[in-house]
Amino acid sequence: PALGIIIVAAGSGTRLGRREPKAFVSLAGRSILAHALEGVLQLAEPARIVIVAPRSRLDAADAVVAQVAGAARGYVSVVSGGESRQASVAAGLAALGEAPRVVLVHDAARCLTPTDAIQRVVDAVRETGAGVIPVQPVADTIKRVDPAGAVLGTVDRSELVHVQTPQGFPRELIVDAYARAEREHTDDAALVAAAGYPVTTVAGDDAAFKITTPWDLRRAETMLRRPVG
Ligand code: CTP
Ligand code: MG
Repeated sequence: PALGIIIVAAGSGTRLGRREPKAFVSLAGRSILAHALEGVLQLAEPARIVIVAPRSRLDAADAVVAQVAGAARGYVSVVSGGESRQASVAAGLAALGEAPRVVLVHDAARCLTPTDAIQRVVDAVRETGAGVIPVQPVADTIKRVDPAGAVLGTVDRSELVHVQTPQGFPRELIVDAYARAEREHTDDAALVAAAGYPVTTVAGDDAAFKITTPWDLRRAETMLRRPVG
């Protein structure tokens, strides 16, 4: 397939505070990873998918593939991740092979991302040839504070956005940027930008929020029980 998707699911989920790694925590009866895989499989075009899982959970990830991917399972593989998210993405890139022209990197933890939000990223990569990230405006007022908590000032919100995933890139561009990366970056777009490549934005989606805390998990449960709209 011309599209490759890396689902990074190798984190431990420290802030969620469960015993099992976050991607294997149950959400409305199936794992967060199962929801995430289901979401990307709903794209209209076939995709080569690599799931990056904790080394201790490779069998569990295989079981998710068997359960969710059905006829598409031949396109899905599982590899083990690294200490950092960046190392996990690198493992996913190595496993993806050279066929995909466009590569998406997606957090398993954003498991309720709507298909059309994913499609927007794919389309924009093909249109621009640049890196593409889904973003949303910042809703709250943002302030700078000192270590003691005193307010230093209010930040101009008009220039700020929240960044989501999937982030999309022409394959050769993200592969080159990863080969040249000299330090940890906060996201793939920052790593790609540090290599000198352009990155642009498309509209994200409220439902693409990241499950980070127990509160986020409750929010996801509520969404699945009573879908909005
Ligand atoms: N991730 C990964 N490998 C790592 C760290 C993170 O594949 N070494 C993945 C997570 O599984 C998650 C995504 O990157 O899908 C976003 O990371 P985050 O939400 O921070 O997940 P965790 O690192 O697992 O959570 P925490 O930071 O609370 O420990
Ligand atoms: Mg983390």
